[in-house]
Amino acid sequence: RKILVLHGPNLNLLGVREPQHYGADTLAAINARLVEQGTLAGATVETFQSNREFELIERIHATLDDGTDFIVINPAAFTHTSVALRDALSGVKKPFVEVHLSNVHARESFRHHSYFSDLAVGVICGLGARGYEYALSFALSHTVKTS
Ligand code: DQA
Repeated sequence: RKILVLHGPNLNLLGVREPQHYGADTLAAINARLVEQGTLAGATVETFQSNREFELIERIHATLDDGTDFIVINPAAFTHTSVALRDALSGVKKPFVEVHLSNVHARESFRHHSYFSDLAVGVICGLGARGYEYALSFALSHTVKTS
């Protein structure tokens, strides 16, 4: 089983960036916990962050050939802007959960619309870095254990 965790723009700044919204954990710490959680469940978890839309799109396309069963994605600001990233996810037809650290619905109105939520299996927001762990836990139970 393979689960891909994708992080969109500016999430490389976690720990430094607006901790009142995004918490004190660094992306490296979050990713290390997710990889460990996957290993304990006998699954492979790969993480990828990019500030570039095209790199995220190409990484999503690559899931057609790399054995990815499920995607956990925080599209960050692209949540509210990117038809291209949405089309990439619907194009590869992989099930995914959308995660946001902050409760986007309690913030500016431009954060209330997502180009992803209607395609997602589910959406988690406002639970901080824990949201990724809950999403991964769902992904691990959703995907079939083959070995
Ligand atoms: C975010 C929320 C987005 O509105 C914002 O642009 C981000 C992070 C979150 O995790 O809360 O960069 O996706």
